[in-house]
Amino acid sequence: MMPTIHVRPPLPGPKSQAILARRDAAVSKASFRSTPVVAASAHGAAVTDVDGNTFLDFTAGIGTLNVGHTPAEVVEAIRSQAGDLIHLCAIVGSYEPYIALAEKLNALVPISGPKKTFLSNSGAEAVETAIKMARAYTGRPAIITYEGAYHGRTLLTLSLTSKYALFKKGFGPFAPEIYRVPYPYSYRCPHCRNEGVCNLTCFEDLERALITQIDPSAVAALIIEPVQGEGGFIPASYEYLRKVRALCDKHGIVLIVDEVQAGFCRTGRWFSFEHSGIEPDLVVMAKSLAAGMPLAAVTGRAEIVDAPHLGGLGSTFGGNPVACAAALKAIEIMERDNLNQRAEQIGEITMAHFRRWKEKYPIIGDVRGLGAMTAIEFVQGRNDRTPNTEAPLKVVAEAYQRGLLLIRAGLYSNGVRTLVPLVITDEQLEEGLGVLEEAIGVVAG
Ligand SMILES: Cc1ncc(COP(=O)(O)O)c(C=O)c1O
Repeated sequence: MMPTIHVRPPLPGPKSQAILARRDAAVSKASFRSTPVVAASAHGAAVTDVDGNTFLDFTAGIGTLNVGHTPAEVVEAIRSQAGDLIHLCAIVGSYEPYIALAEKLNALVPISGPKKTFLSNSGAEAVETAIKMARAYTGRPAIITYEGAYHGRTLLTLSLTSKYALFKKGFGPFAPEIYRVPYPYSYRCPHCRNEGVCNLTCFEDLERALITQIDPSAVAALIIEPVQGEGGFIPASYEYLRKVRALCDKHGIVLIVDEVQAGFCRTGRWFSFEHSGIEPDLVVMAKSLAAGMPLAAVTGRAEIVDAPHLGGLGSTFGGNPVACAAALKAIEIMERDNLNQRAEQIGEITMAHFRRWKEKYPIIGDVRGLGAMTAIEFVQGRNDRTPNTEAPLKVVAEAYQRGLLLIRAGLYSNGVRTLVPLVITDEQLEEGLGVLEEAIGVVAG
């Protein structure tokens, strides 16, 4: 097989450099970029830059392109919808693609009983909408969130988000009535440290918070990522999630799961919470929902989704017809091509390599994931779990020079995550993993 990667170092090339200089001059310095790639086109798992270099993409737009870059059928659906109706605004009137997508999501989300949906533009906007629904439904103010959580960058979602120095420094004051508890992060658990038997002692932290910080009768919602994304691709134990469900039931707390990064086949299920068998009350989705078009959704129990007053929810662009058409086609592809199964295969292949590398390179402290949502956590050495924050930056840079696009992750920014497009071929996957190991080898010395 011909390799996909085709790069002519040194990178970035001259045309890329010229555009990067313009970016530096014209765009806010506060917007971070993981690599210097300047894309001209992308198809499947491959990205070609303006100098003609072709890279393999192990980021998929941070989990946005589970059906790959520019799938022909989605492109055609976008073209066709744009020719008929680009926009109307769901506050002004109705159009079928919005309704069809809501019906599809209601059918797809495994919550029993009647379900309804509201569409918006971004993951953050959808998270805020879910919080509004929960507050309107319960008449309560407080929200429980987690250490390591990432729910977005708008003021309310930033208040829910963790990782202070990178995301929040200097942006306060933050929204009130938010209470943060430790996430079940077994590798860094102060109780079990991933070494012995997990007794779910971390769940007691949550129970204690309902005594020391806030009375459960004032809590509207608990929001959790069943697999923390930005926090480092940490799957919560299924038993932990089941206990959370029971606790929410006991106290009438709305359980919101944030599936923005983990949803749409990424973990081998439509939604990552499905692995645990729980039924949340509200599910927040975005990213891969619409194959790269800006679209987000909240789907959940109809009585909660309907709780805000008439006119209480709205958005100028939310549920735009072109984005809805892309989403309907993307979901059709995921179903038809069984991308859940493919995600599991990709996860197995990837984790087999990661486990081998963990034995080989002492700077790899932990490897983990669920389905094709996989990550490596870097530490100082075999017996020293101190986060190694330099290694991921160097690995990402070395990989870029060799034609692989990567992005970091982790509460301590000491991880590298892989989110390959689920349409990647086995050959491309092995090629990219080969480059990743080379990069780690260089950094490990
Ligand atoms: C779990 C999770 N929630 C919410 C968001 C925010 O989504 P957006 O960037 O579309 O606002 C993200 C983005 O990475 C995310 O990973």
